[in-house]
Amino acid sequence: MLNLSQIRNDFPILHQQIQGKPLIYFDNAATSQKPQAVIDVLNNYYQKINSNVHRGVHTLAERSTTAFEATREAVRKFVNAKTIEEIIYTKGTTEGINLVASSYGKKFLTKGDEIIISTMEHHSNIVPWQMLCEEKDLVLKVIPINDDGDLIWEEFEKLLSPKTKIVAVTHVSNALGTINPVKKITELAHQVGAVVLLDGAQASPHFEIDVQDLDCDFYVFSGHKIYAPTGIGILYGKKAILEQMPPYLGGGEMIKEVTFEKTTYNDLPFKFEAGTPNIADVVALKTAIDYIHSVGKTNIAQHEHNLLTFATDSLKTIKGLKIIGQAKNKASVISFIVDGAHHMDIGMMLDANGIAVRTGNHCTMPLMKRFGITGTARASFAMYNSIEEVEFFVKKLDEIVQQIR
Ligand code: ALA
Repeated sequence: MLNLSQIRNDFPILHQQIQGKPLIYFDNAATSQKPQAVIDVLNNYYQKINSNVHRGVHTLAERSTTAFEATREAVRKFVNAKTIEEIIYTKGTTEGINLVASSYGKKFLTKGDEIIISTMEHHSNIVPWQMLCEEKDLVLKVIPINDDGDLIWEEFEKLLSPKTKIVAVTHVSNALGTINPVKKITELAHQVGAVVLLDGAQASPHFEIDVQDLDCDFYVFSGHKIYAPTGIGILYGKKAILEQMPPYLGGGEMIKEVTFEKTTYNDLPFKFEAGTPNIADVVALKTAIDYIHSVGKTNIAQHEHNLLTFATDSLKTIKGLKIIGQAKNKASVISFIVDGAHHMDIGMMLDANGIAVRTGNHCTMPLMKRFGITGTARASFAMYNSIEEVEFFVKKLDEIVQQIR
């Protein structure tokens, strides 16, 4: 069990009124709020530590480098990677996918090769692959989904062939909440010799991630969805694969030796970290991870599951409301539409009651098209949300829906 009132006290942003009502923040799949400890560490960094990393011998440089590298070890443990060389700092999930598409894709894929994604991918796990396909004359194949929002397994099996070189799928759908069977997907993809990239942006806040158990080749996620600042993300890659990949960006830090004739590249992970990195936010990422551990991922998963179950059962009683995405295995994300009302209007009416949800296509236009809609309203829960908040949300939503009908 988690101590909810203690957790809520740790998040200062939650204690304010929006439109004259206490804030209920249900837009956690877009970004999570930050605990005081994360806010404090950023302040402390700029007040006492700020200095560039891996470049100086002075005391501050040594302190910032130590803090910067301590995060790498914390992330390694967070995803259970074998070594810190497998942990690359990026700007976020999107950059991680672009890095792999660009570096791995350019080196290892050739005309006619195939890449498999799924219907429920975020644009960030569609567009980089399309760009690569255009550049190298590759074929993009898409796993269809059923009406519940689950991947159609037999169709995935049919798409796989020796031509498949990359399978890139999301661990959890940001728009539907579906938790995909990514271990099984990886196993099958490996049987045809493909590498697997898993988009962990929506899974990493909710449950344990074990990249060795999943056996995926790449796993990407963002700090800001796990209570850390924006602008910092992680690319995990298997060392043997990362070693064979060319750098993504060129510049300082990623080199061993530069002459005008030839440059040799640095070892992992630095080969992929050109330029001065986002040091303060990297440092704060460790604080966020420590915070998650202090609450316990199992406790978080259990609490969020209770919120999801309660919200789903309650929303189902509202006439005229339809939940989009009813997979059996879901993270704490509920998308819904209301007969006769635009999702944006629903979002604004909820906001007038202090309730923040996301509205729109959730950067998943092809998925929306699959359901024949232009968008949904989406409530997504985090560890600091309460059953009382869900109750209030359902009550207000019911009033809104009945008003419209
Ligand atoms: N990808 C984020 C979301 O689903 C921004 O809202």
